[in-house]
Order: sequence, then structure tokens, then C-alpha cells
Amino acid sequence: MDPDEFRASGHRVVDLLADYLAEVERYAVFPPVEPGDLRPLFAPSAPETPEPVGDILADISRLILPNVTHWQHPGFLAYFATAASGIGILGEMLTAGIGSNAMLWRTSPVATELEGVIVDWFRQALGLPEGLDGLITDTASTSTLIALAAAREAAGIDASRAGLAGRHGPGGLALRVYGPTETHSSSAKACMTLGIGRDHLVRVPVDEAYALRPDALAAAIASDRAAGQRPLAVVATVGTTSSTSIDPVAAIAEIAAREGLWLHVDAAYAGATALLPDRRGPFTGWERADSIVVNPHKWFFALLDASLLLTRRIDDVRAAFSLVPEYLRTLDRDNPARDYNELTSQLGRRFRALKLWMLLRWFGLEGLRRRISVHIELAAAFAGWLDASSDFERLAPVPFSTVCFRYRPAALAGRADEPDIARRLDDLNARLLDAVNRSGEVFLSHTRLRDRFTIRLAIGNLRTEKRHVRNAWDLLRDEAARLAPEDRTS
Ligand SMILES: Cc1ncc(COP(=O)(O)O)c(C=O)c1O
Repeated sequence: MDPDEFRASGHRVVDLLADYLAEVERYAVFPPVEPGDLRPLFAPSAPETPEPVGDILADISRLILPNVTHWQHPGFLAYFATAASGIGILGEMLTAGIGSNAMLWRTSPVATELEGVIVDWFRQALGLPEGLDGLITDTASTSTLIALAAAREAAGIDASRAGLAGRHGPGGLALRVYGPTETHSSSAKACMTLGIGRDHLVRVPVDEAYALRPDALAAAIASDRAAGQRPLAVVATVGTTSSTSIDPVAAIAEIAAREGLWLHVDAAYAGATALLPDRRGPFTGWERADSIVVNPHKWFFALLDASLLLTRRIDDVRAAFSLVPEYLRTLDRDNPARDYNELTSQLGRRFRALKLWMLLRWFGLEGLRRRISVHIELAAAFAGWLDASSDFERLAPVPFSTVCFRYRPAALAGRADEPDIARRLDDLNARLLDAVNRSGEVFLSHTRLRDRFTIRLAIGNLRTEKRHVRNAWDLLRDEAARLAPEDRTS
């Protein structure tokens, strides 16, 4: 593409994106399609001959935009948001255009050195002490995989060289990782990938607020040791995925230190709230962690993908992943440079520090704090409406910006645990979620808490205002009244 065509097409893409984001509310948040509807819209094979960029962009508007789930829609209140801030989009464009591979210092000196700067900017902004180093990865799943690989390496079993094959079984290695029943599936996947095995992620019981019980953790470790198993690491979460519960990190850090276990803190979602000094209570003790993951692509508005892995044990991370063939060796340098590929399983790496540098400068920490505070206030307002209604029931505390609840008409309040009624409530809530999402105005997700179908409303979208949250509440009540008119009291 010659420079003139690139410039003209680039302007068209920016126009298209600016129009899309300005008008995103015109779309149904979730497109009205069923699995398999879309594939037939696309040519079965790649074209033999070139097509003009105008035709391709026209198809973006015709085929792509109407058929995505609109994560940037202000009514997108599902999962955890990954908000596309304007500055983040511009950062991604520049990253793509510069096109550097941040695998070695010499494949992009500034990508390497800016990554160190940004890791340290985040460390300070989150109120964490010096001594934590780190790197930027694609996702929390990768960050946790790296952390647990480093924990495995630090255990001195030489797994990265000798592997684990044949070392399980009686008298062999049975490595154990601990986390609450609420631990995100990425920790289990890390155990699967690292040869620890997902059965060896011990699901420690939680209390009534879905937080790990330190007494149960200590008991699980003791019983594993007595059975000849080898405790390796604990994953504590601040802001679990289902209910955003908070594990007692300080007490867990105490146990991990006593037992010589690696402590990994998963704050992928809620870590952003540590930007607010008066909201750091839930994080007490995380400064003692061996590793911490926080996702800028969640509540920092940095777009997929960007995950921050902080660790005070960078040498263990390097030991787990460093492998330097001759063609990747850095020659003739007086000052040893960091080559980030030595800290991950991948070689090629995106220049993610660029968009994060732009984003932190454009919002300023003050701007990020302000937006996160607004989201927390919106969630508190929604929780207040729920609590004031006798037909809805909140199913978990709301420490951040996510509300877990279900429709439980007042007429059924005393009987909700009877098996028939419990089944009926599950079914009602599944149908309520479906009906609300079919409106196209909002998009919510679900989970199960104490075996109850639970609707989740999570705020973290830059474009969500109070009127959108109010609209979600109105839709929920209207649809509930339509689905179960006989049970409704208000
Ligand atoms: C607490 C927690 N940890 C980890 C993850 C995985 O994040 P990612 O999609 O970046 O791998 C999530 C995703 O929502 C999460 O909520």
C-alpha cells in the first residue's frame, strides 16, 4: 500500500471508528444472530485477485459491525468490561504501525526500556513497594501461567529441564496449588499446562462472603503434607470473577511464608481500585506476594490485550523460561540488556508498553481514579435499588463495581430452598437474563453462587452512565413481571 493510499484509507478507518463509537448505542448490544448464521455471509475461499480497500471497508460496515457483540456499548454490563478508550485505540494503531517485535533489547530498544518504565509506573500507582519487577503480557491467564511456572522452578525440582513425565505417582512428585473454590479457571489451566494437573489445584472452602478461609487453607496444606504431597503455591484473589469476593491476603501471606509457598495474587479485575489510596484495604498484604497480576485491559481502559505481572522473583521467572539459542544472543554490549522473551514462553512480543504509556499520560492517574470511582458509585446505586425491592435478592457483597443478584419474588421468599422452588427460581432467572439480553439495550452475564443461578451486572465501561444502569434495572423489573406475574408484589 503506497503512502498516499495508506493515508487516505487510514483517515477513512478513523472516521469509521469515530462514527461507530459515537453511535454504538444504535446497535443491539448482542446481535440478533444464532450460531452458524454468519459463516455463509463470507466467501468460502480467499480471493485470487486484489480487492480495493473501499470494498473491504464497506464490508466492515455491512458484515462486521452489525454482527459483533458491542463491548463498547454503554449497556454492555456483562463479564468484566474491556473498554476501548480513544487513547488506547490510538496507541494500538501506533503499535501496529511501528510494528516492532519486543522480544530482544536489540529488536526494539525503546520497547524494552519503556516496558521497564511502565511496569514501575504501575507499581507506584498501585501503592506497591520497590523491589517488585515485572513484565507486560497479553492476558492474566498468561501472567498466572508464568507465575506458577516460576513457582514450580523455585521449588527446586528442575521441572523446566527434566520435565514432570514419570515423576508423578507413589513416592513421586505430587505438586499442589491452593486457591479458594472461587479461583479463576486460568489457575486451573496453568496447572494443566505445567504438568501439575488441574486435580492438584486444591479448592479451599470459602466463608459466607466467598472469601478463602485461612483455617481451611492451613488444614489442607497440613493434610497434603501428611499424605506425602508437595505444596507449591497459593493463589489468592482480590476480586474473584463470579462474585468479586476478596481473599484475606494478609492471613494467606502469613501461611504462605510459614509453609515456604509461592504466593500469587490475582487482582486481574479489581487491581485497578488500588489506584485509589482510600480503597487499598482489600489489598493489605499483597505487598508480600511473590507475584501479582493486574489487567490494564480490564478496568484501566487499555483494550485487549495488556496484563501486568509484577514479581519480586524475576530470577525464578527467568529460570523457568530462559533459553537462548545463538541466533537470539545479544553480542558486543558492555551493559547487559534485558531480553523480555527470556521471561515468557513466547518469543515474539507486541510493544504493549506504548499504548500503556500513552494511556497513563492522557488520563493521568487522577483521571483513572475519577472514572473508577464513578463505576463503584453506579454499582452501589444499583445494589441500593435491589436491596429496596422485595422481589429481588442480592447474592453477594458489592466491594467493587459488580452486583450479583437474582429475581426472587417476595411470595417465594420463605420457600426458596425447597428443591422445586429452587429449580423454578433457577429457570426463572435464566429466562429473565435471556429476555433482558434480547432487548438489545443491555447485556448481562451470569454465574452460579451456592448453586443458585445468579445474574451479574458489572460496570467498567467508559461510556456507561447512570441512565444506562437505571435502564437495566427497569428492564429487569419489567421482564420479571412479564415472566412471573402471579408472584410479583411490587
Ligand atoms: C479474577 C480473574 N483472573 C483472571 C482472569 C483471566 O483474564 P484474562 O482474560 O486476561 O486471561 C479473569 C477474567 O475475567 C478474572 O476475572
